[in-house]
Amino acid sequence: MESGKRVLLIISGGIAAYKSLELVRDLRRRDIAVRCILTDAGSQFVTPLSLAALTEDKVYQDLFSLTDESEMGHIELSREADLVVVAPATANILAKMRSGIANDLATTALLATDKQVIVAPAMNVRMWKHAATQENITILQERGVQVIGPEEGDMACGEYGMGRMSEPAALVEAIENFFHNAGQAPQKSLIGKKAIITSGPTHEAIDPVRYLANHSSGRQGHAIAKALAELGAETVLVSGPTQLADPMGVTVQHVKSAEDMLAACEAALPADIVVCAAAVADWRVANPPSEKIKKNGALPSLDLVENPDILANVSQLDKDRPALVIGFAAETEDVIAYAQAKLAKKGCDWIVANDVSPETGTFGGKNNTVHVIDAETIEDWPTLSKEGVGQKLAARIAIHLENNST
Ligand code: CTP
Repeated sequence: MESGKRVLLIISGGIAAYKSLELVRDLRRRDIAVRCILTDAGSQFVTPLSLAALTEDKVYQDLFSLTDESEMGHIELSREADLVVVAPATANILAKMRSGIANDLATTALLATDKQVIVAPAMNVRMWKHAATQENITILQERGVQVIGPEEGDMACGEYGMGRMSEPAALVEAIENFFHNAGQAPQKSLIGKKAIITSGPTHEAIDPVRYLANHSSGRQGHAIAKALAELGAETVLVSGPTQLADPMGVTVQHVKSAEDMLAACEAALPADIVVCAAAVADWRVANPPSEKIKKNGALPSLDLVENPDILANVSQLDKDRPALVIGFAAETEDVIAYAQAKLAKKGCDWIVANDVSPETGTFGGKNNTVHVIDAETIEDWPTLSKEGVGQKLAARIAIHLENNST
């Protein structure tokens, strides 16, 4: 519970505004007070009445309203909040924030605030990908604004792509993380640090057209890379083949096989932090032929050889070993015991262990229930979205490095 905390929620005009109603409810359930500013465009999608009922407070809409200004001026609105959240954040409001335009109550409050600001962009995929929006986002991030989402999926306009507002649960997590960090803006605490993350499956060639692979979606590794970059780390993501977009602010090396993945990691070293989240194939075909194997009656047999273990290699480096090496243990039984054995065998500092039995839906799914294990402790985390696990892990890494800096 975050009893007594106050969020100023700015709702700008987009179909995703309906999600802000659920966000208000989720925050109120956690005893977080929510005061809303609704833009003119926002009021086309949700009504002040619904928001007033859910927040149990007045909803502020008009910069030049005498009653609003006499009760609570625009400066006071941002001053009395602990955190400002813009959800949904349209391309328009992001552009105004970047330029310092203040031509309504929402943008005036945003220009006047000295509080941490979190934005949850929501827009059509082409508006999101437009160079103007991307530049606005980059500059806002550089100024310390925390950006949550957008996510990929079907859009109200009938298109598919990046631009859906993150779910309220992801925003609640980010807001709770902010409050847990005692009101300190979490971002930028990893400035000056370099991180390498492996993510996704690897494809091991059987012949030029076939390969061995696994069900990893790469969601968890990508989310960790994004979260570390958001904290200011120079981040290199070495990704096997996935369907995911490259996270913003991250240098992505696309690879196919385990051997390529190891080579890309070695090329990116030295680093302060290495997180091996990839589901690296344990074996590859010894000598894949350069021509397609034909069906000629006899069943082919595959000679397999073991792949290099990237996590073990990095953990056991003699020279320039990263300060923190983290592995994952994807298990289907005895999760903790196997994970502890992996920690010892591979020589990494932490293992993030999870149950990937098919009934958990972890492989390819949106959520993850993990245990963070080091030589002394086992921390059981609640079920979180993979983005939530990424943010919590990045925050834990930042705290660890700070406490152990010499
Ligand atoms: N890993 C790696 N390189 C490999 C195999 C695994 O870097 N060739 C890393 C993974 O990224 C993960 C950790 O090692 O961080 C554990 O991977 P996992 O597949 O669970 O362990 P294995 O060592 O393959 O053991 P097993 O398959 O027997 O459980």
